[in-house]
Amino acid sequence: MELEFFRCDATNTTQKMQTDHDTLVKQDLVKTPGTVRVLVGVTGSVAAVKLPILVTELLQLSGVDVRVVTTEHAKHFYNAANVPVKIYSEKDEWEMWTQMSDPVLHIELRRWADLLVIAPLDANTLGKIANGICDNLLTCVVRAWDTSRPLLFCTAMNTFMWQHPISAQQVSRLREFGYVEIPCVSKKLACGDEGKGGMAEVSTIVSAVRQYLHKPDESSE
Ligand SMILES: Cc1cc2nc3c(=O)[nH]c(=O)nc-3n(C[C@H](O)[C@H](O)[C@H](O)COP(=O)(O)O)c2cc1C
Repeated sequence: MELEFFRCDATNTTQKMQTDHDTLVKQDLVKTPGTVRVLVGVTGSVAAVKLPILVTELLQLSGVDVRVVTTEHAKHFYNAANVPVKIYSEKDEWEMWTQMSDPVLHIELRRWADLLVIAPLDANTLGKIANGICDNLLTCVVRAWDTSRPLLFCTAMNTFMWQHPISAQQVSRLREFGYVEIPCVSKKLACGDEGKGGMAEVSTIVSAVRQYLHKPDESSE
C-alpha cells in the first residue's frame, strides 16, 4: 500500500515537472507583436565560440527577439551562461512530447521564427540539410521550414573540408532551396591551416540579418 502511494506520488511529480516544462516553453515562445523573431541555429564548428557575441549583437537590432537551437556537438564550444536567451536542444524536443495533445517543439519553433540564421553551419549539418535529413531538433526545424521565410547560412569548416567538391555541390543545393549563403572567409583557422573555411565575421552576419528585417505579417501563423 505504502509502495503504491510512493509510485503514485512519483508519477504525479513527473507529470507536474512535465507540465511546468511545457508551460515555460509555451511562455518563452509567445509572439511579441511588432517584433521580428530571429532563430539562431548553431552546429559543431569551433566557430560556435562566437554564439554569445552573435546573439548579443542581434539583440541590439531594434525590435528583434532571438532564440537559439543547438546541436549536441555545438554545446562543446560555448558557455550557455553567456548566451542571454533560451537555447533549445534535443532534450527539450523529447521532454516536451509525451502525449498526442502535446506541442511538437520543432514545429513550434518554425512557427515562432520569422528568420533562421545558421551560424556556424558545419560540414556535417550542411550535408544533412542538402539531403533533407532531419535527425535532430535543428535539422527538423530546417526540414519543416516555411521556405517563404528567409533562411541564412554561414558555413564554417577546415579548408580541406571546404575544398572537397561535395561542399560546393551541397552549398549550391541550399541556394536552390532559396536559402541565402553568407560566404565563409579565408583566414588562419583554429586548427592551424590557413585558407577558406572560416565563418563570416559576426558583424557581416548581423548586417545580412538586418537586410531581411521587416515587420512580420501578424496574420501569419
Ligand atoms: C575541436 C573540434 C572542432 C571542430 N570544428 C569543426 C568545424 O569548424 N567545421 C566542421 O565542419 N566540423 C568541425 N568539427 C567536427 C564536427 O564537430 C563534427 O562533424 C560533428 O559531428 C558535427 O555535429 P553537428 O553537425 O551535429 O553539430 C570539429 C570537431 C572538433 C572536435
